[in-house]
Amino acid sequence: MAVMALLAVGCQNTPTPTNDSAQVVMNAILQRKSVRSYTSDTIATDVMENLLRAAMAAPSGRNIQPWSFVVLTDKNQYGDIFGNNFNLPMFEAAAKVVVICADTSVLLPPRENPNAEPIRQSNGTWRDDMGAVTENLLLAAEAHGLGACWTACYPYADRMEPVKKALGLPATVVPYSIIPIGHPAGTEQPKDKWDTSRIHYNHW
Ligand SMILES: Cc1cc2nc3c(=O)[nH]c(=O)nc-3n(C[C@H](O)[C@H](O)[C@H](O)COP(=O)(O)O)c2cc1C
Repeated sequence: MAVMALLAVGCQNTPTPTNDSAQVVMNAILQRKSVRSYTSDTIATDVMENLLRAAMAAPSGRNIQPWSFVVLTDKNQYGDIFGNNFNLPMFEAAAKVVVICADTSVLLPPRENPNAEPIRQSNGTWRDDMGAVTENLLLAAEAHGLGACWTACYPYADRMEPVKKALGLPATVVPYSIIPIGHPAGTEQPKDKWDTSRIHYNHW
């Protein structure tokens, strides 16, 4: 009976069967979880490039693509970058660390007057754009059998300032998130977040 109820309601890790390519995407999404411990195995260069390719495929407001990536490999830098404000052992254990940066300003015609001369202005959607790019990277890591963890940098000044200084980021560039990536050392499982009570039809 309990099994029947589960089948009827479904749970996060048992999506409705669908075609093969949809299944592959669903698996990456539903199997993704934060992984914070890694083996000493390295990540091949072409795999890293795939992850960054996936990240850069993210949507962004007005297609601004405000992101840049600083890939860290020199662990001697990590003391300066992560100081006391991050989980340093997690980053030291990761095969690669990617700092995902946002350019918060943009050279564009004003939105209300697309024919006007481009002007330097703040990019109002950069936070949303950065969430999308970060999630794309995490999903690509999962799809490659890797573990990763979204680590906040923005909006915390105590995290952003040392990172900006250590990496020499331009004034308008914000370190948004920092992603340690490696081969999972543990057996973390995805959390089941499927909750039909969060879904409303036509009215709250
Ligand atoms: C905006 C954001 C900031 C986060 N910052 C951190 C962080 O600083 N350190 C950390 O260990 N995990 C961080 N996480 C990961 C969350 O703790 C994790 O996603 C959440 O517990 C759900 O677990 P799951 O990723 O396994 O589904 C962050 C996630 C998001 C979306």
